[in-house]
Amino acid sequence: MGKFYITTPIYYVNDNPHLGHAYCTILADFFARYHRLMGDDTRFLTGTDEHGQKVQKTAEKEGITPRQLADRVVSRYQNLWKKLDISHDDFIRTTEERHSKGVLAILKLMEEKGDVYKASYEGPYCVNCESFFPEKDIVDGKCPDFGHPVTVLKEESYFFKLSKYQEPLLKLYSEQKNFVMPESRMNEVRSFVEKGLKDLSISRTSIHWGIPMPGDEKHVLYVWLDALSNYVSALGYGSGDDKLYNEFWPADLHLIGKDILRFHAVYWPAFLMSAGLPLPKHVFGHGWWMKDQNKMSKSLGNIVDPVPYVDQFGSDVMRYFLLREKPIGTDGSFSDEAFIDRLNADLANDIGNFASRLTALLDMQFEGKITAGDGSLKEAALKQLSDYHDAMGKFQPKEALEFVWTFISQLNKYLVEREPWAKPKTKESEDTLSEAARALRLIALQIAPVMPHAAGTIMKSLGFRPALFPQFNWDDPQETRSYRISNLFPRVDKKEYFADVKKPEEQKTEKKVDTEEKVEQPLVTIDEFRKIVLRAGKIIQAERVPKSSKLIRMIVDFGDENRQIVGGIGKKYQPEELVGKTCPFVFNLEPAKLMGVESNGMIMAGNLDGEPILLQFLEDVPPGSKIS
Ligand code: MSP
Repeated sequence: MGKFYITTPIYYVNDNPHLGHAYCTILADFFARYHRLMGDDTRFLTGTDEHGQKVQKTAEKEGITPRQLADRVVSRYQNLWKKLDISHDDFIRTTEERHSKGVLAILKLMEEKGDVYKASYEGPYCVNCESFFPEKDIVDGKCPDFGHPVTVLKEESYFFKLSKYQEPLLKLYSEQKNFVMPESRMNEVRSFVEKGLKDLSISRTSIHWGIPMPGDEKHVLYVWLDALSNYVSALGYGSGDDKLYNEFWPADLHLIGKDILRFHAVYWPAFLMSAGLPLPKHVFGHGWWMKDQNKMSKSLGNIVDPVPYVDQFGSDVMRYFLLREKPIGTDGSFSDEAFIDRLNADLANDIGNFASRLTALLDMQFEGKITAGDGSLKEAALKQLSDYHDAMGKFQPKEALEFVWTFISQLNKYLVEREPWAKPKTKESEDTLSEAARALRLIALQIAPVMPHAAGTIMKSLGFRPALFPQFNWDDPQETRSYRISNLFPRVDKKEYFADVKKPEEQKTEKKVDTEEKVEQPLVTIDEFRKIVLRAGKIIQAERVPKSSKLIRMIVDFGDENRQIVGGIGKKYQPEELVGKTCPFVFNLEPAKLMGVESNGMIMAGNLDGEPILLQFLEDVPPGSKIS
């Protein structure tokens, strides 16, 4: 037993969370839950990156302050983590005071080391990456990493002597072979550093949304120096209470996407070396999720929102799919088809059928009693368990789960070979079923990090007390009473599912026909009606759209997300009287712009003398509740 400190990247608040963000956080949650089950003193940190130019610009575009934008988006992240059963111990926001204290404490140490100086700088700058790039790396006016447009920026700036750390970094990579994982990423990082490191600009005067440089407040700190420090500021570093820092730092694993490797594997260790603080043990750069083989992007309109999948199938299924479908280090492609196939094959079929068949037999033959068994599965089970631990030690969730699923198919075979249904109520059948039940208990323990709900259901139904790995004992003498497990993961009829899921283009043509051709009021079928999602929303902010007498811009809370909705209700209502009211909204209306302000839904209203009259519920309903 030891300690385990794991972190996710902190997410930018200029955009809403999607499947890619969910993936990284689910991975981290998986490792955190595993280490808790190993009895390790575990700490799991996630949070949001709220400063910098991206956030400032998006807020300006929306006509709100960066703080308002951050507050809106942060709750979306927090709600998504709740939905996905993420078990983080802390959530840090870089706008918190404890964070800026930590950043400034690190900066002070870097300055004391003589590693920070002021100079003037001019060069190509990428707003998206928030980075300067050397002239030679710019191709057609685009940044070398992602092809974003760059502009020439001239700034007086504070610099960090990154060049001084080239050798120490190379030494680190050769001494700590898996400082960066997987190995291919280690090679990328090494060759980047071998090419030579330039000093790094760590302040900006062109933006103001950030932590001011002490003593020279027209500069704010470079967003990456600010952001990376979250891993220690969240432990109280710099805030006068070092208890958590002493207990958990250095981090055991910074889990990140491959795109932000350089920041974590070059800049961050260099900052820490300069400050004289210990270095993290591993930085793991995971691969990306694409959608149907394409990169997810707003302009392609193919960003996958995990929420509808979780609403329909539960968080266990999404968590399992993401960890099992692709190796952690490589890219993978999300598709509805692959998702449903995995659910049907691995979950409904393999584990679901095994659990229901076994518990039904136990119930029918022995009133559910599980006894000592005959040890016939012990060796295979313990071997499988050790393969699982090996894979977990190498941070390979897909492989770890594959070992479990291979074992499940062995168990299905075991039942087929021993045919307990053909020898009801015999000692042989009792041994077979009890043995299989012990194996299922071990499976529940191993899937607990990925599917906490299913694992809990199995444990409870088998009557075993949940155990930690170190306490797990195959020969546990306790006799328990089990109950039937039915339909752990209901099978999805693929045909029906795909008949219901319409492509966005199809939905658009349908709408056109509706509005252009059906002038008389036609009857709609219940299925057509169900396409319109109506939900209760609580208005949490309201203000007039400038230069409009009618339009009011509202921020509406729907439980799992806040949305901006514009309504033409400003002649009848004042913004102040709307705040706090819960009203019905059309939830799945196409976004539209009203006087340049985006609206993502529609408030419903009656009509009195041509004026809209708002509707309310007879009883309080929680924000987000469906209206049918
Ligand atoms: N704010 C920085 C991180 C600072 S950490 C000190 C940032 N934020 S981000 O919101 O843009 O990205 C956060 C993480 O999401 C990154 O690790 C990134 O790799 C990951 N992903 C974004 N899109 C993704 C996919 N499509 N697939 C998998 N992960 C992806 O970078």
